[in-house]
Amino acid sequence: MQQTVLDPEGVRQQYADWADKYDSELEGPWQYIGPRKVAEGVREFLKPGSRIADIGCGTGLAFQFFPNSHITGFDFCDQMLRQAAAKIEGLKQQGTDVRLEFADVTNLPAPDKTFDVAISVSVTEHIAELSAMIREMRRIVVPEGVIALTAPETQLDGCIARSKSEVSELLLNENLLLVKAFGYRSHFEYAMLTRPAIYNCFICTKPR
Ligand SMILES: C[S@@+](CC[C@H](N)C(=O)[O-])C[C@H]1O[C@@H](n2cnc3c(N)ncnc32)[C@H](O)[C@@H]1O
Repeated sequence: MQQTVLDPEGVRQQYADWADKYDSELEGPWQYIGPRKVAEGVREFLKPGSRIADIGCGTGLAFQFFPNSHITGFDFCDQMLRQAAAKIEGLKQQGTDVRLEFADVTNLPAPDKTFDVAISVSVTEHIAELSAMIREMRRIVVPEGVIALTAPETQLDGCIARSKSEVSELLLNENLLLVKAFGYRSHFEYAMLTRPAIYNCFICTKPR
């Protein structure tokens, strides 16, 4: 069956419309585990004060899993960033400071080598030119820094599915070393995402 993939404006509008309800739907009935899974995957690489870039941070659901760190969240949807901004004050209590930047994931407003870890959770399915996003994540992390991203291998309406081997090859092409990959199930049941989905999480390092 031919699947419809949204253009970037369509994606932005989808999240603008969803932003107010995103957290309550995902943390409630959907039992969304993507951010926690990615945080568990990179935990062994974190130190107190790690500089973390969250690429396509949305409402900042991942922030809570990175105590004692400096997080910069990048996203191109104002409404999602506004929800993320509302979490900043509470995160200070766990030693986490957060900055938010309006940005496209394929063109990040950050200097080279300024983060220890770059994560991206449930974003690649919207990015046609995934190699450009991976290149940006690689550019902004320090040598021996860590990159973690997820990709659904289940085909979902409005989204791009990618196999494990396809993503592994893209990472290799961008000169990243795949350290580990694992799968998990997401229970998306939003209008455009109508089936449980198998996601893969890829954890890589940037060679020195
Ligand atoms: C499913 S949400 C995931 C948000 C968050 N990472 C999480 O796990 O809850 C996808 C996010 O990617 C953002 N996004 C999609 N395409 C983007 C692009 N080209 N540039 C920046 N952000 C983008 C959307 O605005 C949205 O906030």
